[in-house]
Amino acid sequence: MFPDTRLRRLRLNPQIREMVRETRLSVKNFIYPMFFNENLTKPKPITSMPGVNAYPVKMAGEQAAEAYKLGIPAVMVFGIPKYKDEEGSGAWAKDGVAQKAIQSIKKASDVVVVADLCLCEYTSHGHCGKVKNGEILNDETLDLYAKTAVSQAEAGADMIAPSGMMDGMVASIRTALDDAGFKNIPIMSYSAKYASGFYGPFREAAESAPKFGDRRSHQMDPPNAREALREMELDLAEGADILMVKPALAYLDVIRDARIMFNVPIAAYNVSGEYSMIMAAAEKGWLDKDRIMLEVLTAIKRAGADIILTYFAKDVAKKLEE
Ligand code: PBG
Repeated sequence: MFPDTRLRRLRLNPQIREMVRETRLSVKNFIYPMFFNENLTKPKPITSMPGVNAYPVKMAGEQAAEAYKLGIPAVMVFGIPKYKDEEGSGAWAKDGVAQKAIQSIKKASDVVVVADLCLCEYTSHGHCGKVKNGEILNDETLDLYAKTAVSQAEAGADMIAPSGMMDGMVASIRTALDDAGFKNIPIMSYSAKYASGFYGPFREAAESAPKFGDRRSHQMDPPNAREALREMELDLAEGADILMVKPALAYLDVIRDARIMFNVPIAAYNVSGEYSMIMAAAEKGWLDKDRIMLEVLTAIKRAGADIILTYFAKDVAKKLEE
């Protein structure tokens, strides 16, 4: 008890604080999400995400290599195709936008390529799967995911990250990858992905907003945390290697639960809206961007995330270098 105990003793100077610091950010835990858009000939700024661009495919190799040079070990690839159709066939096309981007990234550097796997960027209606009478079909969508996974692996993806929240998607992708000879390609599943308002800016970047309805029939209901554990349990049983919670900030409790319950790496996606919120406040001069960025990412790690997907990855890399 006080006065024998004084917690301030270990806060006395920066050296001591560093010594007893419990959580340290490292760029080695980051994955940098990148957008490649087949309609572009030059970089296009995403207005709701200052500092983030969508790039033409021809810049994929060079842009990913730049992140890699900063020490970031992995990038997440999102493709925005020129043509969209009912089924989203661009997602598994041999010469699809993501496939081309993946190929050129692999040629340019040793950065690990994680392929986001969903159909919403590729379907004319903007939904994550096949749609019939307004319903987003589950089982009929699984084959499309399986084909897409194999096609991404063939293009050179090092890891597949299904984000469509269909039941059974991990098992069907695992089987398809194994059958095609890709038994060593890991799956990072967007296991506990919530129907969140924080994806707004991403949908501008990925041109993937649904034309009708919403994603609440497959993405999780934000008030539920126990259900997230069931999602993760099932994904593990189906063969997921890494479990993801998304978004991160409003779901730190879910990240913590996942960390306690499962002995596999836990990833957290610091999503577009979480990025935009900070950038907007910083632009107004209301918050100190660098300080808040580090505080928020440290919180995500402290909650239990081993891997963090963040649009701040390059900024943090530069900051930590200083
Ligand atoms: C689906 C997907 C989304 C995000 C990643 N993968 C959007 C959605 O579910 O609507 C969101 C990422 C972000 O907001 O940064 N392809």
